[in-house]
Amino acid sequence: MTVVSQDKTSITLKPTGQRMPIVGYGMWKVPRDKCRDQVVESFKAGYRLLDNAADYGNEKEVGEGIKKAIDEGIVKREDIFITSKLWNTNHAPEHVREACVRSLTDLGLKQLDLYLIHFPISIAYVDPAVRYPPEWYHDGKGPHCTLEHVPLQKTWEAMEKLVDEGLVKNIGISNMNAVIIQDLLKYARIKPAVLQIEHHPYLVQAPLIKYAQKNDIAITAYSSFGAQSYVELGIDHAIKCPPLLEHDLVKSIAKKAGKTPAQVLLRWAAQRNIAVIPKSSNPDRLKSNFDVLSFDLSEEQMQQLTNLDQGLRFNDPGLYFDIPIFA
Ligand SMILES: NC(=O)c1ccc[n+]([C@@H]2O[C@H](COP(=O)([O-])OP(=O)(O)OC[C@H]3O[C@@H](n4cnc5c(N)ncnc54)[C@H](OP(=O)(O)O)[C@@H]3O)[C@@H](O)[C@H]2O)c1
Repeated sequence: MTVVSQDKTSITLKPTGQRMPIVGYGMWKVPRDKCRDQVVESFKAGYRLLDNAADYGNEKEVGEGIKKAIDEGIVKREDIFITSKLWNTNHAPEHVREACVRSLTDLGLKQLDLYLIHFPISIAYVDPAVRYPPEWYHDGKGPHCTLEHVPLQKTWEAMEKLVDEGLVKNIGISNMNAVIIQDLLKYARIKPAVLQIEHHPYLVQAPLIKYAQKNDIAITAYSSFGAQSYVELGIDHAIKCPPLLEHDLVKSIAKKAGKTPAQVLLRWAAQRNIAVIPKSSNPDRLKSNFDVLSFDLSEEQMQQLTNLDQGLRFNDPGLYFDIPIFA
């Protein structure tokens, strides 16, 4: 079972015993020119986890922020928890190490605390000299996504070698369902420490979370604010959906608690023993999003929020390509 520390600030990762902060800072879409300063500000505000990915295209700038914060004595390397993710173009075992080393180099680190397989989809390799990050389209234009035949087991074995070599401490997965995880657990020599999934009151995924937590896999929620970060991508059902941050229930719970709607949504997840990684490019929202542990929601409020579930998913590659991974 997932174990949360007594002070509620971290989850113990079963394979290594390392503690993962329950609140972190998500770096997707943080503009490159703001990254360095936002990273420093996040550490000043108390964040100790940065959620990165090769695909976010800003690891170099995040690395500059980490270096600045360490040089200025704001944090020490051993006090921060840095995550990155293996992109879909690098699932072939011979390309896994290269991807990890590129992320390490960009982030200016010798070791990652956590390295996740970003999606359970293997697509054709793109030489970084041609395009980095590679994104989804093999020719850089699309709209066709070129799949590659790499069984997940081969990718996982290459991930395990990164641990053997000391390049990463923990390995994990993202955007995977219970069937894939069940299979992975049969062959994994090193078990996945974390499963990162889309999770908000419109997409509760209770059976998946129960299954993972029971198998000692900690959950990290992404897109805790629901459609918010997909509206700007022009995703139709995200635009049409009533925003969670403006939902009457969320607002009334926030008012009662003396907190913001964003803090309530993050608290709801954290109280289910789920880590959160809100993104903000705004210094004030960055600060306020960190205040997730100073209050509790009642059981009734927790249930009311859970009851908003509609199985509504916003981050689905099946919307763009013929790869319905969540079907
Ligand atoms: N594994 C995966 O496939 C995957 C997929 C998606 C995301 N992620 C990770 O999860 C992180 C978080 O997810 P996300 O970026 O999709 O979305 P999110 O954190 O749910 O929402 C971010 C959006 O909410 C706004 N926002 C932030 N704080 C707010 C507040 N207090 N009040 C009102 N609006 C607020 C942000 O705008 P401002 O920036 O202007 O504040 C931004 O538009 C990502 O950064 C990334 O690290 C992982």
